[in-house]
Amino acid sequence: MKEYLLRKANMDGASNLKVWLLFVVVIAILGNSAGNNQYAARKLDDEIPGFISIDCGGDEDYTDKETGIPYKSDKELIDTGMVNTIPADSSTNLAQYLKSLRSFPQGKRNCYTLRPEQGKNNNYMIRARFFYGNYDGKNQVPTFDLHIGVNLWRTVAIKDGSYSVIYVPLTDYIDVCLVNTGNGIPYISALELRLLDNSIYHTAGGALINPRRYDIGRESDQSVFRYPDDVYDRYWIPKLDVDWVQVSTSSTINSQNANNIPDVVLRTAAQSQNASIPLNFSWSPPDSLSKCYVYFHFAEIKKLEAGQQRELTINLNGQHYLTESIKLDYLNPITIVQTDQPSSGQWLYFSISAAEGTKLPPILNAVEIFELIELPNKPTAIDDVEAIMEIKERYRVTKNWQGDPCVPSEFSWDGLNCSNNNPPRIISLNLSSSNLTGVIATSFSNLKALQSLDLSYNDLTGSLPEFLAQLQNLSTLNLSGNKLTGSVPEVLQKMSRDGKLVLSFGENPDLCPSDPCNRKKKKVFVIPVIASSITAVLVLLFIFSALAIYRMKRHGGTVTKSSIKSQNQQYSYSEVVSITNNFKTIIGEGGFGKVYLGKLKDETKVAVKLLSTSSYQGYKEFQAEAQLLMIVHHRNLVSLVGYCDEGEKKALLYEYMANGNLHQHLSGLEYLHNGCKPPIIHRDLKPSNILLNEHMQAKIADFGLSRAFATESDSHVSTRPAGTLGYLDPEFQATGNFNKKSDVYSFGIILFELITGRPAILRGPMRNNHILDWVNPLIERGDVQNIVDPRLEGEFNTNSAWKAIEIAMLCIPPLAIQRPDMNHVLAELKECLALEMARGRTRRMETEGNKTTSRNPSKMTHLEYESDIAPHAR
Ligand SMILES: *[C@@H]1O[C@H](CO)[C@@H](O)[C@H](O)[C@H]1NC(C)=O
Ligand SMILES: *[C@@H]1O[C@H](CO)[C@@H](O)[C@H](O)[C@H]1NC(C)=O
Repeated sequence: MKEYLLRKANMDGASNLKVWLLFVVVIAILGNSAGNNQYAARKLDDEIPGFISIDCGGDEDYTDKETGIPYKSDKELIDTGMVNTIPADSSTNLAQYLKSLRSFPQGKRNCYTLRPEQGKNNNYMIRARFFYGNYDGKNQVPTFDLHIGVNLWRTVAIKDGSYSVIYVPLTDYIDVCLVNTGNGIPYISALELRLLDNSIYHTAGGALINPRRYDIGRESDQSVFRYPDDVYDRYWIPKLDVDWVQVSTSSTINSQNANNIPDVVLRTAAQSQNASIPLNFSWSPPDSLSKCYVYFHFAEIKKLEAGQQRELTINLNGQHYLTESIKLDYLNPITIVQTDQPSSGQWLYFSISAAEGTKLPPILNAVEIFELIELPNKPTAIDDVEAIMEIKERYRVTKNWQGDPCVPSEFSWDGLNCSNNNPPRIISLNLSSSNLTGVIATSFSNLKALQSLDLSYNDLTGSLPEFLAQLQNLSTLNLSGNKLTGSVPEVLQKMSRDGKLVLSFGENPDLCPSDPCNRKKKKVFVIPVIASSITAVLVLLFIFSALAIYRMKRHGGTVTKSSIKSQNQQYSYSEVVSITNNFKTIIGEGGFGKVYLGKLKDETKVAVKLLSTSSYQGYKEFQAEAQLLMIVHHRNLVSLVGYCDEGEKKALLYEYMANGNLHQHLSGLEYLHNGCKPPIIHRDLKPSNILLNEHMQAKIADFGLSRAFATESDSHVSTRPAGTLGYLDPEFQATGNFNKKSDVYSFGIILFELITGRPAILRGPMRNNHILDWVNPLIERGDVQNIVDPRLEGEFNTNSAWKAIEIAMLCIPPLAIQRPDMNHVLAELKECLALEMARGRTRRMETEGNKTTSRNPSKMTHLEYESDIAPHAR
């Protein structure tokens, strides 16, 4: 990159010095290094793989002193409930995760959603902790139900304790729900998830609950073993009866035991007085008539004389399940699973005896007893869950939508009905009068089983999308009382004429009932929006170019001169066919159709966006973009080379951006994946809308496509686009008002992405996190080393990095009025540059003076920057 920069400076001469200077700032910020992700290493230090530990009602994240397990506050994980603390007099000796709790006075069902990285079809232990501590001063312990996913786990009536469940979820997320049954306010103190080995605790589809887990042969007054002694953080309670003989060893027990029983647990055992006395054990009756699972863990820990071997038989509730006896090997653990279904009120007991004819007394090292519960309810079809979650987030639906949408049916979400299929599907959705704003999202068309959709009396804008016709079973569609524009797609009208669909779209003043729309188009243009965006783009472009060059250099890219000029020429369809070599190479795909690589007669490469004939939406966008790009030219807007408009055949020809888009360079996702979010095209500033040509110059694209271009005033766009979560101005989300400052916000987010090398939305173990939630605590701590892209391996100038972070911070206050104008942001960036350049020049002169032999500009630059970006503390 360094070579390139200097070469570029020489090539373009003084007029481009400014650009070059800006590059330098960014380079100083970004440094120059390859590979190696420090973040991953750091992550291992403070997180335990396969563990999620949440302090409900907790105020901060911390590491538990006793176990070293990091606990997270639930602040970011749940929107409902109230934080309560245990009164000081009863909390002195409590673990921190018990000192606070979250209670749920509102709503019948409240849920935490756990999202373990390993996802569905893995075996997990989930533990919920409760410490009442008379937090509410009522001195009355509440009773309520606990659900795991869509099934009842158990009823909670506990002052101090925990419940755990072991099961294999069918979904990538696990809902833990507290259900108010009218006997007090549900509460929870802590919630923990532990990934287990899939080979242990097998049940056929059920879940194991109410564990009783004993470390046999250890004095009962000794401490309970858990993490880190037990890698799964199980609790082992010591147990030694008076008539048992304690046996122990200091030798290491073969740790390859399948159930990962801790060595310290197996090293102690109990043995009966002699071979003729069995080892007896009994438990109070289980809660229900459920089946019990008993896991016996044995290991011979006495060094026996040669030829001797302990041999045992197990009797559970009066039955011999095993016909064969169990033979124990020295320091080699073995686990025996037995199941039984005791009858009502019956105690559970077992005895372990010496096998007939053997002389060594029976022994036991550890035992676990569980009750099995069935999980009869199946969750809603996953595609429906994902679609409705998108709708919930996109429109910020304020209903009490928690847990599974359909199951159990008594808790199905307000405003929707489900089928009784297996799995259940969402068949009707009523979001009438729910304050929805923005366009109709594609997510609605992903609710494939939908029969009735009522979105009436909201503030929905944009066009009436054709994709709703993809809903095969849709028989009622009500869009009355919104602010939709354009015309009603023919395909929906036909469904209505054929009597398949009851379609209502009245009280949308700007919606034409028929297609094509005859009403005169408003002649209002988008200049204000463009003006602000151009400024943003300019600045972005600089930064972006530098970043891109940096990456390109790493991939050994080269620089050539381009000859593309804006021509705005009209082409016939046959010309388009030959330009694209019969649509041979697809380079992108959007909601409106595919983008092909093309070559003009003079060998200039172009990108050809072909309007798909089935896309009604695309036609308007096609027109809008063509009109816009013919009027507005800017070196940082992607330029139109020409167009084709032959009846059904419509295409736009753009300059070819050889290096993909910023998003790809930032995070490596494929363009296709990104381009396949149809059919509402991104219209906010974000890396994927910023393309790179072979010079690594950045240009904003998809500009015209996004809007209906009806800007009434500088500050307000009434027909507004659906933005992308992560880049969308929070004020706009709340009020629906889009203005220049919304761009400033998006720009701030992109700056943060460039600085940190992370996407705007980070996938987390619990839920997806916004980059600001991640970066803010680090900024508060002044932890610049952890903020900046770890791929730089610490090679950056701290002051420059801070300056960049400050500039980004300026852009992102929640209220638009608090954000500076883009001019101001630009000025700040330039100031940052000037500082950096003053230093840079001094260095360069020194270098040139010393290195008289070097006539190779790239060599010089290399030296120059080597000294400029002195490594900092690593
Ligand atoms: C759900 O079904 C009930 C009973 O048939 C009906 O009253 C209600 O309007 C339906 N809700 C929706 C959203 O269609
Ligand atoms: C949707 O709910 C509203 C009341 O909120 C009701 O008037 C309307 O009939 C419902 N629509 C359907 C399709 O059930």
